[in-house]
Amino acid sequence: MTATAETAAQASGAPSFPIPANVFAETVTEVKHYTDSLFKFRMTRPASFRFRTGEFAMIGLPNAEKPVFRAYSIASPSWDEELEFFSIKVPNGPLTEHLQKIQPGDTVLMRKKPTGTLVLDALLPGKRLYLFSTGTGIAPFAGTIRDPETYEKFDQVILTHTTRTLAELHYGEELVEALKTDEILAEISQGKLLYHGSATREGEHKGERITTLMETGKLFTDLGVPPIDPAEDRAMICGSMAMLKDTAAMCERFGLVEGSNANPGTYVVERAFVD
Ligand code: A2P
Repeated sequence: MTATAETAAQASGAPSFPIPANVFAETVTEVKHYTDSLFKFRMTRPASFRFRTGEFAMIGLPNAEKPVFRAYSIASPSWDEELEFFSIKVPNGPLTEHLQKIQPGDTVLMRKKPTGTLVLDALLPGKRLYLFSTGTGIAPFAGTIRDPETYEKFDQVILTHTTRTLAELHYGEELVEALKTDEILAEISQGKLLYHGSATREGEHKGERITTLMETGKLFTDLGVPPIDPAEDRAMICGSMAMLKDTAAMCERFGLVEGSNANPGTYVVERAFVD
């Protein structure tokens, strides 16, 4: 155990297992539950931890000699002093059945190396940025919409969040509302950020998946923008495997081409991990 990890472990009083050298032990600062199956938590950020907005990290709990780690998108922008995560609660999930019970003051583990493709670097320059998300797939975009660099690079930023129920939209709605009064971001994002939240199993958009809204063109009409054009539009997609496949296919129908860190393109994908 390193001196730093040891100190962190003792401070929280929790971990009784040694913390590996490639792992940070951080303290939970805030927990908020949105529904029976969704919650966010914030924790301290190690001074040496650097990441690009949109990347993910491996998260675990100090409750076993060999803790279970799962990939979590970092929901903070890269400038944040803390780290935010948005999580599902999986019944009997090896990590989330415990993680959902965390309280401020508890310790959460995070492997030291973040990675991911939902980063501005993986996209070619453009005019409009679409952030297509379903469920907890909104997490990386919670960072993207709070990063001033996003608004430097794009004239318009369109966040779509589709969930089964209206209650599952609250985390995203809260983010967008908070931006409007944020000291720095309110001005930077004003008039540039468009939000389209919809539930598919209740409410006015019942039955309308994001792919349907794209295919019928209703999404563009509702937002007051032209249909996706590869000359000026870029997209990031985050959701379940099925959603990624279908939304990527739809983006390709509009002429977008998948990019990566090594080979920037006009759209990028990453799955919402914990399920
Ligand atoms: P639906 O209610 O029609 O299944 P999930 O929790 O299963 O990941 O779903 C989250 C949201 O993503 C729901 O609104 C769901 O719609 C939608 N969804 C599920 N599969 C797809 C898909 N293949 N393409 C687009 N949206 C999808």
